Amino acid sequence: MKIVYLNASGQMGGSERSLLDFMASLRAAEPRVALELIAGADGPLLEQARALGVAARALPYPRALARLGDAGAGGDKSRLLGTLGRASLSTPSVALYTTRLRRVLAAAAPDLIHTNGFKMHVLGAWAAPRGVPVLWHVHDYISSRPLMARLMRAHADHCAAAIANSLSVADDVRAACGAQLRVFPIHNAVDLGRFSPNGPALDLDRLAGLAPPHRPVVRIGLVATMARWKGHEVFLRALKMLAGDPPVRGYVIGGALYETERSQCDLEELRRLAGRLGLAGRVGFTGFVDDTAAAMRALDVVVHASTQPEPFGLVIAEAMACGRALVVSRGGGAAEIVTPGEDALVHEAGCVSALAGRMGELARDPALRAALGNRAALSARRRFARERLASELMPIYRLLCAEAV
Ligand code: GLC
Repeated sequence: MKIVYLNASGQMGGSERSLLDFMASLRAAEPRVALELIAGADGPLLEQARALGVAARALPYPRALARLGDAGAGGDKSRLLGTLGRASLSTPSVALYTTRLRRVLAAAAPDLIHTNGFKMHVLGAWAAPRGVPVLWHVHDYISSRPLMARLMRAHADHCAAAIANSLSVADDVRAACGAQLRVFPIHNAVDLGRFSPNGPALDLDRLAGLAPPHRPVVRIGLVATMARWKGHEVFLRALKMLAGDPPVRGYVIGGALYETERSQCDLEELRRLAGRLGLAGRVGFTGFVDDTAAAMRALDVVVHASTQPEPFGLVIAEAMACGRALVVSRGGGAAEIVTPGEDALVHEAGCVSALAGRMGELARDPALRAALGNRAALSARRRFARERLASELMPIYRLLCAEAV
């Protein structure tokens, strides 16, 4: 069996980390299945896929397509329609790209095409060789983006089935695309060898250019991509609300990743906000960190502050696997992976005072942090072992390939 994966970006966002975990799991369990990756841009994803034994190449998107973001799509409807939405493929650079992709896919001769990311769901449906099933792997809510939902619905009959990263996203895909589309929920997993309570920890102060603290501090960090809905501002405002006892240092860990427009907040903007809030010296910005496990191990508390329902929340699973005390935004797929009060604390999404309340509780109570962290590590071992991925995915590949012959 040969699977070709189509991924929009070459950078390592959440859906790319998830894709690599699926590939790693398949390589270990089914070494005879050939895996190939085609990405819309070059970048670290390709190197990491190759390291797993996956043949990987970039077929770079034309500029218009590269800059068109999933998350920004809702705010930029006319361009989205102009670039992707016309059934006639009238944008010349997109039409040309589709033709090249069609040729590359025909030459690769896959048994199944597994697409990751909205743009590749649509392009894959357009470019798949006749009779080759296309499996959409959906990582985000589509119904909150009306045009995306429309495009997906319009192409659902070119798609053999979809995978969703949570039950909540699966419901959303069904609602957006119609009940005739089969949707299989598969929760993500993480590399428990890498994301574990024991291992090296980064010097976050040095990375963020902060002087070492004079006395012990509780380190609380938001680990996230720079998408606006990840709640950086809520986090900074919550930090501001904490009384100085015990002393807390906040960290914003992550940097801009994607080429897409308007969907990301800017680090400089956040620094200015921190300045205005009087947080100078109390919060550090590390920028992009490759080894997020080592960053998490340097934190006493990991914060997830998404202001919209989180489709899954890989960072939550990773922080649990690292045995960290964790505060999570209520709602979405995230609600399926934590047990509130047991292995994480939750707060109302977007509510500064609720987040500050949870952060304060944890800052004051080292025993609570330890208990939550220990239970989180146990939950992660049960729920997030990567072996599960291949065992859930292979029956779907086999079913769709059997139906296609
Ligand atoms: C997307 C989702 C995120 C999820 C990741 C991996 O980035 O927004 O919630 O963890 O995909 O599935």
